[in-house]
Amino acid sequence: MPQPESDKVWVMRRVPTPKGPVVIQAAATPEALRPLEAHPGLRAFRPAARQKEALLEIAASPDGCVTTAEAAGQLVGYAAFHRPSAFERWGEDPTGGIYELGAVEVAPPWRGYGLARHLLEASFATGRFEDKVVVATLYYWHYDLEHTGLSAYQYRKRLEALYGSVGFVPFTTDDPEIRGYLENTLMARIGPRTPKHVIEAFHALRFRSPPPEAAPWSFPS
Ligand SMILES: CC(C)(COP(=O)(O)OP(=O)(O)OC[C@H]1O[C@@H](n2cnc3c(N)ncnc32)[C@H](O)[C@@H]1OP(=O)(O)O)[C@@H](O)C(=O)NCCC(=O)NCCS
Repeated sequence: MPQPESDKVWVMRRVPTPKGPVVIQAAATPEALRPLEAHPGLRAFRPAARQKEALLEIAASPDGCVTTAEAAGQLVGYAAFHRPSAFERWGEDPTGGIYELGAVEVAPPWRGYGLARHLLEASFATGRFEDKVVVATLYYWHYDLEHTGLSAYQYRKRLEALYGSVGFVPFTTDDPEIRGYLENTLMARIGPRTPKHVIEAFHALRFRSPPPEAAPWSFPS
């Protein structure tokens, strides 16, 4: 069995479901992930095979963390954490302490068994994010409404409850892709040991545009 790198604490859980047991593996190595066949239903973000390639890349990165849900050799769910990409505002973080929960996904036949919650809990149980700010941007164009019968706003509220269960809190931002849509939201989990300068960097990045000096309707004093 491949061994974890020294800074990667392995957390493994066996979750019983009506379809059989599912193994949750936090901070999975590329070697552990590679033999798993991606469930074809894992296509909320891109086709399953391409999503697996992306997960392998994240798992291989020293800053990445992929938590897997495996049933009989098949990858049925995952949560992926990584450093923010350069084209996002969070990528301008000068401290290196801001991470992103890139995605959590469970294949449709395996939903409703608590796997997403286990994936998130196991990821944070590794302790890797206790001194980090983890940002999660929820955009309605990623929501898989087809299988739910929920409106995009209801979906957002359910995701808020799921993320809230592991310590994420909603934050306001001037990001137009968040502020402009009631269905979207910014959430973040500020780890209990996060240094002050990382927290300050997070708050500074939430609001990049300074407030206007005077509203256009202000009267001269
Ligand atoms: C959202 C998603 C990961 C939930 O997976 P799951 O394993 O069915 O979730 P769980 O069974 O662990 O449910 C835990 C909580 O998630 C939330 N939840 C469950 N199903 C959900 C759904 N379809 N949509 C939104 N939130 C949902 C609920 O708050 C639920 O809590 P409850 O059981 O107390 O009501 C899954 O529906 C999915 O893969 N959706 C497509 C991708 C996506 O939207 N990812 C999130 C944005 S990155």
